[in-house]
Parts: sequence; structure tokens; C-alpha cells
Amino acid sequence: MKFFLALFVLMTSILAEDFITKMEYAKMLYSNPRGIGCNLCHGEKGEGMVIAKYKQKGQVKELKAPAITKLDKKKFAQALEKNDSVMPRYYLTQNEIEILYFYVTSEVNR
Ligand code: HEC
Repeated sequence: MKFFLALFVLMTSILAEDFITKMEYAKMLYSNPRGIGCNLCHGEKGEGMVIAKYKQKGQVKELKAPAITKLDKKKFAQALEKNDSVMPRYYLTQNEIEILYFYVTSEVNR
């Protein structure tokens, strides 16, 4: 009996891990990928934002991270795999890229 009870407790705790939804996982990954969170530059929902302001020849300039909510999937993935930008390279898996894409383009997110 004790054994079955222990088994039951174990099973429920394993199953409970599935109770985090796809959206929750996506949000977590967006704000805490392996590296600096996407939200810190692109905004909480990928709406884009100004990262820094600076002066150049007396003119105020802005460094912006663009909105990433309306890109097609190919462009989104390509941006994550290039090296030559302000944005860090993350080395994400295809699955992680899919999930991030799901997050920033999701209607629930609006
Ligand atoms: C340090 C700030 C910074 C962080 C952190 C960052 N980005 Fe970016 N991102 C940028 C900037 C700036 C650009 C504009 C183009 C460039 O410099 O490459 C950009 C461009 C992009 C683009 C291409 C946009 C377009 O219109 O082509 C995508 C997609 C993107 N980022 C997604 C992400 C995702 C997803 C994350 C998190 C895994 C992330 N970024 C983290 C700064 C950042």
C-alpha cells in the first residue's frame, strides 16, 4: 500500500510538470533564454523599443530594437542565426526558435 501511495505521489508530481502551458514556457524562454532576455531589447511582447540614445555631431540618435511581432517565420529564424549585429547570438534549437516565434506572434499576447 505504501508503495502505491509513494508511486502515486511520484506520478502526480511528474505529471504536474506538464501543467505549465506552452504560452508560459514561451514567455519564460523569451525573457530568459540562454543569455540576455529578448524582452530587455525588444520589449515585453516583442513590440520593439529604444535601447539607447546618444549624440552624434550634435544630433540625438536612437538605437532601436525593432518590433518582431509581424515577421515571417523564415526572417525571424534567420535573424536569430546571424552573427553580425548588436543583438547577441543565442545558439537556440529549432524548437526554441519555434516557441519564441509562437510567443511574439501569438494573438493572446496582444
Ligand atoms: C541587446 C539587445 C537585443 C537583445 C537582447 C535581442 N535583440 Fe533582437 N535585435 C536587436 C537589434 C538592435 C536588432 C536590429 C537589427 C540588428 O542589429 O541586427 C534586432 C533584430 C532582431 C530580429 C530581426 C528583426 C527584423 O525586422 O528583421 C529578430 C527576429 C530578433 N531581433 C529577435 C530576438 C529574439 C527572439 C531575442 C531573444 C532570444 C532577441 N532578439 C534579443 C537587439 C536585441
